[in-house]
Amino acid sequence: MRPDSPAVLDAEKRRQQAGGRVVRVNLAPRVSAIDIGSGAVSTWAYDGELPGKEIRVTAGDRLRVELSNQLPAPTTIHWHGLALRNDMDGAEVTQRPVDPGSTFTYDFIVPDGGTYWFHPHVGMQLDRGLYAPLIVEPRDEPGGYDHDWVIVLDDWLDGVSTTPDDQLRKLQSGGMDHDMGGMSMEMPSSPLLGGDAGDVIYPYYLLNGRTARAPRVFTAKPGQKARIRLINAGADTAFRVALAGHRLTVTHSDGFPVRPVPADALLIGMGERYDLVVTLGDGVFPLYAQAEGKKGQAMALVRTGAGQAPDATVRVPELNRRVLQVGDLDAASEVFLADKTPDTTHTLALGGDMKSYRWTINGRLYDPEETLPVRQGERVRLRFTNGTTMFHPMHLHGHTFQVRWANGRGPRKDTIIVKPKETITADFVADNPGQWMIHCHNAYHQGSGMMTTLSYMG
Ligand code: C2O
Ligand code: CU
Repeated sequence: MRPDSPAVLDAEKRRQQAGGRVVRVNLAPRVSAIDIGSGAVSTWAYDGELPGKEIRVTAGDRLRVELSNQLPAPTTIHWHGLALRNDMDGAEVTQRPVDPGSTFTYDFIVPDGGTYWFHPHVGMQLDRGLYAPLIVEPRDEPGGYDHDWVIVLDDWLDGVSTTPDDQLRKLQSGGMDHDMGGMSMEMPSSPLLGGDAGDVIYPYYLLNGRTARAPRVFTAKPGQKARIRLINAGADTAFRVALAGHRLTVTHSDGFPVRPVPADALLIGMGERYDLVVTLGDGVFPLYAQAEGKKGQAMALVRTGAGQAPDATVRVPELNRRVLQVGDLDAASEVFLADKTPDTTHTLALGGDMKSYRWTINGRLYDPEETLPVRQGERVRLRFTNGTTMFHPMHLHGHTFQVRWANGRGPRKDTIIVKPKETITADFVADNPGQWMIHCHNAYHQGSGMMTTLSYMG
């Protein structure tokens, strides 16, 4: 079923809800000079802002986004995590990229509430400044918090040490970061991630576009409740996140509710989102995002009272207490997808290594002709197996799968960390016809072949 097939339009008709508004947004990605708090960088950003301006809609709304490409290269917008109509997905298999100087209007109904984001699906553009939050309020919003803070994490090199395209070429030609300039630097590694923690050593890590030297400040009153929406827009970095002096309660994974779990810190891979709720104490607290297995961190400050602002070297003991991982999560009952014998099972064996820098699925590099077939209405099971020494945050477009741990439970997600030697089972209902990418959300792995297509057959 091609992106323009009648089945795609039928599925979109079923998403229509009475009372949905039309929300219009203009986006102009362009070359921009941006102050990241440690000096100005030249990068590519939506309307010159980093992160791009948040889009906020209500589930059932129709979003009309006019993209006017002012970049020197073709681009698209991919709406990460949304079960939207296939021809608006902005991916390789659904759209020819929009040329410089041209416009394209994305027009689709936003089905589900939650924390989402958007970014290009062309080359290495994600590792520039092209990303922004897309927040979808549910129609029956329970609310119950005083603040709603959106936090976008990123690993940054563009315009500082190199460009993402040059970095990719270097990795692919075997020039690893750790033997740069004859200095032997340690390769990133992390017990929490079960092995290698990344391929790229970044000069900076950003929280809402700022380095830890010049952090964003969130202000509130003691005793207030904040909902914190975390988005990892990094290309090669997982983050370990904590709010000093606080316990967090995790309420959503990739936009979908989970049974609330308390944690001191949590691990977030590239492309993932987690929503937290926290009751604020009195003082000034670092909200700290340690680059997992790497040297460096991003930070914001939460200020509810008097006190000296800590600097970037502050110690946050919560980072080394109970670190919540995806294995601790379980979908809330209203979104849990009960177990059922799958009609189709696809195994995706993840392969590759630093030396060849060929990252593969089932032994193959990305080839648009090689697809994983499914039929509309089927129950589908994906089995990700990781035969490499590094974690891969695997992302499926257009669907939110049910992760199934050994006990049959698990969270709903669209992006999941698969650790070395691990097998992850992910079930979904094939109810959104079209052609959908499945890929590693490490941008350098994706750009080196770790991508395939889930294809609905007519
Ligand atoms: Cu966030 Cu295929 O991407
Ligand atoms: Cu990967």
